[in-house]
Amino acid sequence: MLREAILIMDQLDEFVDNLQNQIFEEAKQALGEKGFDRWRNPKWNGKIENPDGYARVIGECGDTMEIFLKFENNRVSKASYFTDGCASSMVSGSFAAELTLGRDPDDLSDITAETVLAAIGRLPKEDQHCASLAARTVQEALTHYMSGLVKKTKE
Ligand code: FES
Repeated sequence: MLREAILIMDQLDEFVDNLQNQIFEEAKQALGEKGFDRWRNPKWNGKIENPDGYARVIGECGDTMEIFLKFENNRVSKASYFTDGCASSMVSGSFAAELTLGRDPDDLSDITAETVLAAIGRLPKEDQHCASLAARTVQEALTHYMSGLVKKTKE
C-alpha cells in the first residue's frame, strides 16, 4: 500500500515537473530569453511611497498598469511598476520602469511602445499592446511629475 502511494507520488511529481517545463518552454518561445528571464525575476516590481510622478492606467484589455517615479535633480532616481496583468504586461512594466532610470523629462518623453518592445526584444503579436500600456503609463507619470513642478513654481 505504502509502495503504491510512493509510486503515485513520484508519478505526480514527474507530471508536475513536465507540466512546469512545458509552461516555461512556451513562455520562453513567446517572450524570448530576455523577456522570460525578466518574467521569472520581475525587477523593479512594487510600489514606491510618495512618488514624484505616478500614474495608473487601465488598458483596453482591462489590466491595470502603475508606474512610480522618484526624481533627484530632475532625473529619475527610483522607478517601479505594478500590474495585475499577464506575463507580457509584467515584462513590459519592468522594462518600462528600467528605461526611466537616470532619465530627465526630455528623455522620458521619448519612451514609446516601440522603445519598450525593443528593450524586451520580442513579445507575441497579440501582447504588443502590453508594451504600449506600459509606455502610456510612463507618459502619464511624467505628466503628473511635470504638473507637480508647475504647481511648485506657482506657490
Ligand atoms: Fe492586458 Fe497584457 S493583456 S496588459
